[in-house]
Amino acid sequence: MDIKLEIANRIAETANVPSEEVFSWFEVPPTPDKGDIALPCFKLAKSMRKSPNIIASELSQAFLGFDGIVKAEPAGGYLNFFLDRSDEAKKTVLRVLKEGEAYGTSDEGAGRNVCIDFSSINICKPFGIHHITTTVLGHSLSRIFKHLGFNPVRINHLGDWGTQFGKMLVAYKKWGEREKIENAESPMRELLSLYVKYHQEAEKDPSLDDEARAAFRSIELHDPENWELYQWFKDLTIREAKHVYELLGVEFDSYNGEAFYEDKMPAVIKEMQDKGVTTVDNGMTIVDLSAYDMPPCLILKSNGGTIYPTRDITAAIYRKNTYDFYKNLYVVAYQQNLHFRQVFKTLELMGYDWAKDCVHVNFGMISMPEGTFSTRKGNAIYLDDVLNKSIEKTKAIMIEKSPDLPDMDEVARQIGVGAVVWGPLYSSRIKDFTFSWEKALNFEGETAPYAQYTHARCCSVLRKAGEYDVEKADWSALDNESCANLIKAMAALPSCIESAAEKYEPYLISRNVIEICSAFNKFYFENRIMDENEGVKTARLAVTDAARTAIKVGLYLVGIDAPERM
Ligand code: ARG
Repeated sequence: MDIKLEIANRIAETANVPSEEVFSWFEVPPTPDKGDIALPCFKLAKSMRKSPNIIASELSQAFLGFDGIVKAEPAGGYLNFFLDRSDEAKKTVLRVLKEGEAYGTSDEGAGRNVCIDFSSINICKPFGIHHITTTVLGHSLSRIFKHLGFNPVRINHLGDWGTQFGKMLVAYKKWGEREKIENAESPMRELLSLYVKYHQEAEKDPSLDDEARAAFRSIELHDPENWELYQWFKDLTIREAKHVYELLGVEFDSYNGEAFYEDKMPAVIKEMQDKGVTTVDNGMTIVDLSAYDMPPCLILKSNGGTIYPTRDITAAIYRKNTYDFYKNLYVVAYQQNLHFRQVFKTLELMGYDWAKDCVHVNFGMISMPEGTFSTRKGNAIYLDDVLNKSIEKTKAIMIEKSPDLPDMDEVARQIGVGAVVWGPLYSSRIKDFTFSWEKALNFEGETAPYAQYTHARCCSVLRKAGEYDVEKADWSALDNESCANLIKAMAALPSCIESAAEKYEPYLISRNVIEICSAFNKFYFENRIMDENEGVKTARLAVTDAARTAIKVGLYLVGIDAPERM
C-alpha cells in the first residue's frame, strides 16, 4: 500500500475522522529538512478540540516504530513525516520496473468513450502554426485518457462548409490551373495564392462576392461539376495535412467535419422548434439566451442558411448517439468561449442532461511578435515549415556530433518535432503564446530535447552495464538526497497523469518529466553508478532503469518520442 494511505489510515483511526479526508490534507513540506509529507493539524483542531500543536505532538506518538517511517516530528502545528528513503526507493523502483511502459495506467475509464474534437483544420486554408496547440494538446489528451483506460475518439471536425468555398471556386475557375496545382510541391500554397488574389480583386470589384455566394449555393445544391471541385479541394487539404500529422505521430478516428452534418441539421432544427427552444427574430431563427446573459445563438440566417453553431449542436447530438460519450471535449482556442457556452446552453435547453459532459478545453492565442496571422493576406507560417526547419537543424547537429548514429533521419524527426511541440505543452493551456523561431528551435534548458537527451543517457548507461539482477540490489545505497529527489519525482508521475486528465492540462506531466530529468542528472553526477560493490551498483542501475521508463512514459503522454540514442 502507498505509504501516504497507510499514514492517513493511522491518523483516521487515532483522530476518528474519515481517512480520505486526511489524505486530501497532506502537503509537501517547503524544504527537505522538514521531511517528506506534512499534515496541517489545524484541520483537526475543531473535531479534536485542541490546539494544532498539541494535536501534532499527540499524533506523533501513533507513529513510533511505524513501518516505512523514520520519524514523525511535530513542528509549528504541523506533523512532519520523514520516510524511510531506502524503503521508498525500493517500492517506487520495483513498481516502475514491474509496470514498465504501463506505469501509471489505470482502468478508471474502462468502457467509457471520450470524444476529443481537436486540430479541426479548415479546408483550403494553410495548416499554419496557429493550429499547433489544438493539434498537440488534443493528441496528448487522447494518449492520457487512453493510459487511464478510457477509449478516446479522435475527431477532426473539418471546417469544410461555408461561403469561403464559393470564393475558392470563383478564384480557381478564373485563375487556377488543375495541373499546376496537382503537381505543385504544396497544392495548398497554390490554393492559398488564389484565395489571396481573390481578396485583392474583390476589393476592386465587389461583384465577385455575388459570384462567390452563387458558387457556394451551387455547392450546397450538389451541382456535379462544382461539387467535384469542392471535394478535390478537400482531398488536397487533407492529403497535405496528413504529412504534418505523420511528422507529429497524430492520428484520427474520424474526419467528419461541418459538411457531414448538412443532411442531419433539418431534423435537429425541427426538434428545436418543436421543443420551443427557438424564436424568429428579423427573419432569423435564434435561441434567445438573454436569461443567461448571453447574446442569442444563431441557428438559421434569414435566407435559411445554417451556420457554425447549428452544425456544432447537430454534431454534439450525433456524437452522443454514435459514441454515447462519457465526456465530449472541444480543444479550441478561447476566442470561441462564447460560441461553446451558447452551444452547450442550447443543448441543455433542448433537455439533454449530457450537455454537462461537454467541455470546451480552451487555450490561449498564438501570435507572432509582428502581429497575428492573416490567411487572407497570405502571411501564414506553415507548421510543416517550422517542423522541417527544426528537423534539419537537429540533423545538422547530429552530423557534427554523432555522425555514426543509426537511424539518423528518424531520430532527427523525433527531436526536431519534440522541440517545436514542447512550447504549447509546457505551460498552462490558457496562457497566450508568442511564437518565435528561437524558442521553437531551442534545445537547451527545460525543453523536450533535454528530456530526450536524459532518456538517451539512461539508455546508454544501461547498455554499457549489461544485464543486472534486481534481486541483488542494496536499497540502502539509495539513501541520500539526490536519490530521494529522483524517487519522489518518479513516484509523482501517476498522480500527475490523473490531474492532467482531470484538468485537461498535459503540462502537469511535462513539468514532472523535467523534474525527473533534472533529478536524474543530479543523481548521475553525485553517484557513481558502476560502483565496485555489486549491491550498490545494482540499486543504482535499477533507479536508472526506472528513470528511463518514467521519462519515456511521460514524453509519450505528451506526444513525444524518446529515442534510445542521440
Ligand atoms: N475549424 C475551426 C477553426 O479552425 C475549429 C473547429 C472546432 N471544432 C468545433 N466542433 N467547432 O477555428
